[in-house]
Amino acid sequence: MNDDVVLTGDRPTGRLHLGHYFGTLANRVELQDRYRTYVLIADYQVITDRDLPGEIQRNITEVLLDYLAVGLDPGKVTIFQHSAIPELNQLLLPFLSLVSVAELSRNPTVKDEIAHSARRAVSGLLFTYPVHQAADILFCKGTLVPVGRDQLPHVEVARLVARRFNERYGEVFPLPEAMLGERPLLMGLDGGKMSKSRGNAIALAATEDETAALIRKARTDSDRLITFDEVHRPGVANLLTLAGLCLGRPPREIADEIGDGGAAALKALTTEAVNEFLRPIRRRRREHTEADVRQVLAEGNERARERAVRTLAEVRAAMGF
Ligand code: TRP
Repeated sequence: MNDDVVLTGDRPTGRLHLGHYFGTLANRVELQDRYRTYVLIADYQVITDRDLPGEIQRNITEVLLDYLAVGLDPGKVTIFQHSAIPELNQLLLPFLSLVSVAELSRNPTVKDEIAHSARRAVSGLLFTYPVHQAADILFCKGTLVPVGRDQLPHVEVARLVARRFNERYGEVFPLPEAMLGERPLLMGLDGGKMSKSRGNAIALAATEDETAALIRKARTDSDRLITFDEVHRPGVANLLTLAGLCLGRPPREIADEIGDGGAAALKALTTEAVNEFLRPIRRRRREHTEADVRQVLAEGNERARERAVRTLAEVRAAMGF
């Protein structure tokens, strides 16, 4: 085992989708054998831009089922949730004192989320959650943070907080680093960021028919000759990328094979590739019960909390409280 500590997580807003899978889940499954790994169900992050949905417990269960389905092993990974770890959340307070409002306002991911928020007013939590996320990363002295590209600004915030804390109060935190998957970025089926709330994502747990229906609606164009051109034909290129990821083949080769079959042939091939790829994951998902999930989370929360208690004690001592 390596000395690095891996931490990453997801907001439990519903089932995880293929963007999560290729963006980070697949990578985590490989990392769990090599590093001490923490995976956070970021339940307090859900209330950044919406009311806590009544089905929060359901959503947490769904995310855990997705984790187990893709092959995260609770014997190797600590899976835990914000709301069970008060000491983690308490780090937010000193950390907030280390960043300026100007720095918070520049965060491009937060800006994008504000632009897409269903709410007219931006909550203080939406504005500051990258600092909370720094607490997620630093409570366990995480050094490697496997994330999608949209999360890079947040890892920068965590580095900034760690650096400033150490300068001001003495060396406590290692500087975390983002770990980007090598895989190409998947867009949503409508050309925007893939997101469940934007209705443009294929959930891992979707049925084969739901998958087919979503791909049928995907934005393409009317040129019958299928080519891989990310700049001029982003919708077509995105389906080719998705099919390529599922088949383990280069998108260009798939385009050549479809030739002048048009969008219909491309969508049929992509649907088949996705459903084939997800079949074993979907099967494993059905093998786990809610009781399994409760157990996994209870054990993970206990381990994570022990870690957080130690870090908070160190932080308080360093600050002289
Ligand atoms: N913000 C991440 C997302 O929306 C989820 C998350 C919360 C996270 N805390 C984290 C990711 C810490 C990496 C590290 O997907």
